[in-house]
Amino acid sequence: MKSLAELSRICAELAGSDLSVEMLDTLTLEFSKHGLSRDLARKFFSLLLEEKERLRGAGAPESGLKLREFASRALELQRMGKEVFRLELGEPDFTAPPSAVEAACKAIREGYSKYGPANGIKELRAAIASKLSEKFNLDLKPDNVAITAGGTFGVYGSIEAVTELGDEVIVIEPAWPLYAHQVKWLGRRPKIIRTRFEENWDPIEKIQEEISRLIKLIILNYPNNPTGKILDEKSMKAVIELAEDYGAWILSDEVYMDFCYRDGFESILKLGAERAIMINSFSKTWGMTGFRVGYVVSDPETAARVARAQNTAITCIPEFVQRAALAALNDEVSAGKNIELIGMRLKTLYEELSKSKLIEVKPPEGAMYIFPRMNVENFDSWKFAWKLLEEKDVAIAPGACFGQSYDNHIRISAVLDEKPLREACRRIREAVEEYL
Ligand SMILES: Cc1ncc(COP(=O)(O)O)c(C=O)c1O
Repeated sequence: MKSLAELSRICAELAGSDLSVEMLDTLTLEFSKHGLSRDLARKFFSLLLEEKERLRGAGAPESGLKLREFASRALELQRMGKEVFRLELGEPDFTAPPSAVEAACKAIREGYSKYGPANGIKELRAAIASKLSEKFNLDLKPDNVAITAGGTFGVYGSIEAVTELGDEVIVIEPAWPLYAHQVKWLGRRPKIIRTRFEENWDPIEKIQEEISRLIKLIILNYPNNPTGKILDEKSMKAVIELAEDYGAWILSDEVYMDFCYRDGFESILKLGAERAIMINSFSKTWGMTGFRVGYVVSDPETAARVARAQNTAITCIPEFVQRAALAALNDEVSAGKNIELIGMRLKTLYEELSKSKLIEVKPPEGAMYIFPRMNVENFDSWKFAWKLLEEKDVAIAPGACFGQSYDNHIRISAVLDEKPLREACRRIREAVEEYL
């Protein structure tokens, strides 16, 4: 009892202080005097940090949900008969290739509609392993792969698999909002790194500054949503080195890996990081968002852990969906057309938006988005988005959805054909002038 009282006193003292990483050493020492492990000290320290943040009222707003509400309004306007230019979601306008649709229907007809293995059917895992092995000159086996409910569950299951309660996870902003939400949902703590337009969205220096022994996972997403940035090989290697020095995992979300419009991108798989997970999806390349199918690639133990999380949450991915994914994987012609189409549209977006002095835009590198900076003082991205929707029938995603520091940005998805895209850009330019 005496020990407990003493420990409580030390913890209360720590909670009242600034909680630097050095203090973890103090706590570890005190814990060890009482026969408690270093690992327990680290977890406890993380919980103290979390509690402090909670008391300070920190926490990412539910921006993903706000964007869904906004998209519902755009849909409502459409249903009222208006022509609305929908550029707010990260969802391609092209649908699944006929080969995939046919494979799904055939599989249902043939009775592939029962429960299946939590990590996915072997045919699909083997096909993915062999395709990636060929592409990156590796020797991946089916057990390196787990099929997941989209990239979304791949990310979720991976965070769960390689981190523990209270661990810190580096999230590089601007970012897909679900990273921080999932990290928090799982009781881990996002360590937000803010990159900047004027620094070409480069995260390396900031990761160097922020990395510590508390970081257990670094999430990378290149080509990036929302900026479209591609992190070059040298920088990827720098992240890998840092992660290895600090014993952290890397989760490389590569759902946009096919949408590269300049050289220089290398998958984490090719770069041979020791503790790495690659996430991919059928949603973007083949326009199969509603099929909910993606995959993770890692060492067999980690892939199995992701599958275990999936088994707990949703049992498995429907087999007819996986058979559709297998058909899509072999349909390189459809993928090629989609990739070319998005590339052309990104060029159009760049060209059209560059016409305004109030809109600063970088040449597109990858993914399906453009994330311009608005040269307007006190720009409020939500206010602008609502005005643009209600007055000009154009829906875009406010920059604030991707992090609190990006209120002077908007994200535009390349998901309309050339002519409507040009018209939407004209209205965006007009709306910025009026906003000013
Ligand atoms: C960066 C990123 N990762 C993952 C996903 C998840 O996609 P899905 O779950 O449809 O595979 C998205 C979707 O927008 C995304 O933008």
